[in-house]
Amino acid sequence: MNLKIAVLPGDGIGPEIIDQALKVIDAVCEKTGHSAEYTQALTGATAIFETGNPYPEETHTACMNSDAVLFGAIGDPHFDNDPKAKVRPEKGLLEMRQRLGLFANIRPVTTFPSLLHKSPLKKELVEGADFVAIRELTGGIYFGRPQGRSEDGNTAYDTCVYHRFEIERIAKLAFEFAMKRRKKLTLVDKANVLATSRLWRETVQEMAPSFPEVELDYMFVDNAAMQLIQWPKKFDVMVTENMFGDILTDEASVITGSLGLLPSASIGIHTSVFEPIHGSYPQAAGKNIANPIATVLSAALMFEYAFKLNNEAEMIRKAVEASLEQGIVTEDIDKTRAVSTSTLGDWLASHIKMNF
Ligand code: IPM
Ligand code: MN
Repeated sequence: MNLKIAVLPGDGIGPEIIDQALKVIDAVCEKTGHSAEYTQALTGATAIFETGNPYPEETHTACMNSDAVLFGAIGDPHFDNDPKAKVRPEKGLLEMRQRLGLFANIRPVTTFPSLLHKSPLKKELVEGADFVAIRELTGGIYFGRPQGRSEDGNTAYDTCVYHRFEIERIAKLAFEFAMKRRKKLTLVDKANVLATSRLWRETVQEMAPSFPEVELDYMFVDNAAMQLIQWPKKFDVMVTENMFGDILTDEASVITGSLGLLPSASIGIHTSVFEPIHGSYPQAAGKNIANPIATVLSAALMFEYAFKLNNEAEMIRKAVEASLEQGIVTEDIDKTRAVSTSTLGDWLASHIKMNF
């Protein structure tokens, strides 16, 4: 199979971690007879500096013409402390999500036995935790209009908007995920306060009879934030709106021991995008110290979701597990015996070539 992949390294550590994922993809292709055809494209601050636009038209075309997009990270401190910046790198990511119709962001949270000691939570709470957070990605307060400032500059507003069809399509996906797993779905909302949340609850309630085997429960987001760290094992599939999902998945990521480990898949109408959940970690850019595992595991999700190549995805996951078990890790995992980003990428690629 020829795998047409658009590669968007983005900012900060993006290029370094993407390089490792490409090594791993190439190793899988070498072993399995597939070929990968990469189209590199600009996004984020890097794209702003070169073209003035964080999501240039050529980048969109490259994404539309590919079977999958592998995305590094976006964000640059240059813009963070300038609230008046006219254009920001994050806008590129949001525009990509919107134009590719990526309404569902899937963030699987699994723990690695060899890393249980890295979790800030007690081992017995974390051991065996395994859930999927499904975050709505193209609606809610991120995109609702109006958004802005009053003329005198003293008032600012964001608007949270959801339409029934947006809730239905992501809830359907969440029910289907639950059916393939332990058949438990938790809707996280703030229905005691927000009108949008009440529409979520009503819509999901109406859909529930079509999935009689799924045990459905509801949780307010503040309570969910607490339960997630108190009983992470309680969750199977969690579905929630855009901003709640953003916050809860960062929280969920620390359960596993490092933000550098969690991959994600964004799927929807056009080409799917695979990206680590962490940011661009500008302090580490160019230092060859960042953890590439989240990106490598995002490539595994790409094989699974975009190409339906489950064995290939499994090869990558096994290689990652082997590296963790053997202590071939970057400094976020083990400061005293860390290997570099590129050494870890090389190790994973050669592990795949030699062992499968
Ligand atoms: C994420 C990020 C983005 C988001 C930012 C960079 C716009 O935090 O993918 O979770 O808030 O969605
Ligand atoms: Mn986030």
